[in-house]
Amino acid sequence: MKEHLISAQEIRLPNEFSIDNGCLTYRNVNLLELVKKHGTPLKFTFLPSITHKIKIMKDYFKLAFDVNNYRGRYRYYYCTKSSHFNHVLKTALLSDVGIEISSTCDTELISSLAKTGHLPPNVQIICNGYKTEDYLMGIFKLMRDKQCEILPIVDSKSELEHYIEHSKTSTNMSIGIRLNMSYIASYARESRFGLFPEDIIHHYNTSILGKGNLKLTTLHFFNDKGIENTDSYWTTLAEVIHFYCYLKKINPDLTTLDIGGGMPFKDNLDHNLHISELIFRIVSTIKEICTLEEVDEPDIITEFGKYTVAESTGTLFKILERKKGNKRDWAIIDGSFITHLPDTWAIKQNYPVLPDNKLKSDLIPYTLGGITCDSADFFPNNGDVEAIMLPDTCDEQFVAFFHTGAYQEALSGFGGINHCLIPAPKHIIIDENDLKEIAISTFSEQQSSQNMLEILGYQ
Ligand SMILES: Cc1ncc(COP(=O)(O)O)c(C=O)c1O
Repeated sequence: MKEHLISAQEIRLPNEFSIDNGCLTYRNVNLLELVKKHGTPLKFTFLPSITHKIKIMKDYFKLAFDVNNYRGRYRYYYCTKSSHFNHVLKTALLSDVGIEISSTCDTELISSLAKTGHLPPNVQIICNGYKTEDYLMGIFKLMRDKQCEILPIVDSKSELEHYIEHSKTSTNMSIGIRLNMSYIASYARESRFGLFPEDIIHHYNTSILGKGNLKLTTLHFFNDKGIENTDSYWTTLAEVIHFYCYLKKINPDLTTLDIGGGMPFKDNLDHNLHISELIFRIVSTIKEICTLEEVDEPDIITEFGKYTVAESTGTLFKILERKKGNKRDWAIIDGSFITHLPDTWAIKQNYPVLPDNKLKSDLIPYTLGGITCDSADFFPNNGDVEAIMLPDTCDEQFVAFFHTGAYQEALSGFGGINHCLIPAPKHIIIDENDLKEIAISTFSEQQSSQNMLEILGYQ
């Protein structure tokens, strides 16, 4: 932490930021220069952030394993649904990770990476989600192509039947099963995903046991409330591990516990997430219960999406105009929260926001408004943050939303049709070479009106 910026609360800027002559720099990139060169609205993706996040997570697990004398292995999977972009997948794959996919098109995305030589040999692919006929065909094609190791996670009984059938003609097939956690009191939610413990045991005994070429190796669960230091998370985790131990005792092929995604990202610069402590407690809880149950501790898989990719991306806007408000004044951005950062509107997601320039001026509070006609198109809107502090100036002003790299394009439909026909912004990629020199390239220009008219059937 090296700079202080006076804001609604005082924000202590993390080390990746600095202020140079009243302008914000992020990882040594002067954001004012960036918007002057590329225009706004602008998305940038800083690829080394992805590599860094994967590395520190692996380090946390290694430390937790060493301290707990944990004898399993840890495997990091990147979950494509948080960002499907080619540059994101290619970067993640350079860090020795597996990939978790969830749809038919995802299987084609994997084939495409194989075709262009970006899929390392024997990389592991976990196939999650509901398996339609097309998705199953894609999974079986990947298996036949033998360019990666495929682990389907069974979500329903009908899906399991397909693998039982397939295993009759294949030499060896491993599967996982997703646990439906609705039976756990501390989880306290209805879930349509996965199978209940008694069904898993029944299917194991009747359809898998004794079939030499079909092995149930993995128990999968995903606490969609996210990984958090709450009693409910730890109690739910303990219940799952007890079931893992029970299943392991009747199925010696079971070796792996997949704990899904849900690791948080920094949605606020003041936030200390204590991720190493979360990892330590996950590992020690698994170790403790397995020791008690006299079961070998499992290999652990994670499928972290937003943790991996959110912090790699920022979204920059220009303030078009400031308008008098009743309780607070408005600053209108040249984009839209609903279309460019849909989570701000749909789930009231917070993001760190900072002005990019004129930082020598006093700061005054504003609500930011989007340019759609929708009254819900404003930020902040969730009560966590009262206002966005902007320099008190009549000069040109830019503002940056950070950590916006997960889910936003998947939800807004990158390059499609959006509210009030607001175009997808220009998107640039920032990479670093071995000498830490920055290289900037354009991934896509701002979506054209022509493109939108074509999608809508106009000529
Ligand atoms: C099965 C599964 N794994 C992993 C993830 C990734 O979650 P997150 O981005 O919260 O890490 C999701 C997200 O919906 C999911 O459904």
